[in-house]
Amino acid sequence: MQINILAIESSCDDTSAAVIQDGQVLSNCVANQEAHRLYGGVVPEVASRAHQANIIPVVELALKKAGVHKEELSAIAFTKGPGLIGSLMVGVSFGKAMALSLDIPLIEVHHMKAHVMAHFAETPHPDFPFLCLTVSGGHTQIVKITSHLDMAILGQTIDDAAGEAFDKTGKILGLEYPAGPIIDRLAQEGEAKFSFSEPKIPGLDFSFSGLKTAILYFLKKQIKERPDFLQEEMPHICASVQDRIVSILMNKVKMAVDQTGIKTVAIAGGVSANSGLRKALTQTGEELGWQTFIPKFEYCTDNAAMIGVTAYYKYLAGQFSNQAVAPVARWSM
Ligand code: KG4
Ligand code: ZN
Repeated sequence: MQINILAIESSCDDTSAAVIQDGQVLSNCVANQEAHRLYGGVVPEVASRAHQANIIPVVELALKKAGVHKEELSAIAFTKGPGLIGSLMVGVSFGKAMALSLDIPLIEVHHMKAHVMAHFAETPHPDFPFLCLTVSGGHTQIVKITSHLDMAILGQTIDDAAGEAFDKTGKILGLEYPAGPIIDRLAQEGEAKFSFSEPKIPGLDFSFSGLKTAILYFLKKQIKERPDFLQEEMPHICASVQDRIVSILMNKVKMAVDQTGIKTVAIAGGVSANSGLRKALTQTGEELGWQTFIPKFEYCTDNAAMIGVTAYYKYLAGQFSNQAVAPVARWSM
C-alpha cells in the first residue's frame, strides 16, 4: 500500500503544504506573506493571522496538485517547532484536527532537522554519515547526520544567525526585508573590495553580531567623508558583506571536515539559496575532494516538502504523536 503524507509547515512567515508519496514529493505549495515587507521584519501577530487565512487554500492546492484525495492520506505531518509560537499553533491545530477527523496518525517534525532532510526530497542524496551546514533566518549550525532520524549539532551560532546577518545588514543599507536575496543579487554586480574582519570564535561555533556593528561603523565613517557613498558603492558593499559571511561559514565547515574526517558535505536552509555560498561550497569541494550537496532553491527556504520527507522516515519507524501534542517555540535538536 502507498504511504501518502500531507505535511504542513507554518513556523515563520510562509504557509506551506506538501504531499509526499512513499518518500517522493508529489506537490509542494508555499504561500508567501508579503505584509511583513512594510515592517522590515516578520511581525508575529500578522504572521499568525496570515497563516489562518492561507492554510485551507494551501492544503487544498497541495492535495489537488498531487492528485491525492484526503481519504487516501496515511498520516498528517506538521512542524512542532522551533519557530514563532502563534504561527506554529496554526499548523499544529490544523494538523491535529485533520488527523482526528480522518482517523489517521499524526507526525511531529523538528523544523531544523527537516531543513537537513530536504536533501532526501531529491536524488542523488548524500550517504551517511554526512555533514550539513544549516543556515536560516533563525539558526546557523553544523550538523553531523548518521541516519534519517539521527543527527547531532557540532557547532552553532552564539548570537545572530547567518540569515539575520544578511537581513540586519540589509536594514542598515536601507534594503527591504528579507534582505538576503537582495544582497545576493546586488553582490553579483559588485566586487568584494571592502574588508570586514573575521570574528575569532573557538571551535565550530559562529558569531555574526560583530559583523553587523563593523558594517554600521564603516558606513558612518565613509558617508561622513562621501555623502553618496552608499548609492555609489552599493553593489561593492553587498559583495563585501556576502563574501565575509560566506568565508566565516566555509572556514568552520572546513574545520568540521578536518575534525570528523567526513568529506560528504551539504548545505541547507534559506541562506543555502545564496549564490556566493553555493559557489564557495562547490569550489572548495572540488579543491579538497569532498562530495557536495546543494538543494534546489524551492527546498532551501521554508517548505512543507522537507517536513513530509522527514515524516516519511518517522512513519516507517512508527514514531507518531498523539492529540496532546503542542507547539514549542524553542526546541533543541
Ligand atoms: O530557512 P528560511 O526560509 O526560514 C527560517 O527558517 O528562518 O530562511 C530565511 C532566511 C532569511 O534570513 C533570508 O534573508 C535568507 O534566508 N535568504 C538568503 C537568500 N535567500 C534567503 N540569504 C542570502 N542569500 C539568499 N539568496
Ligand atoms: Zn527554516
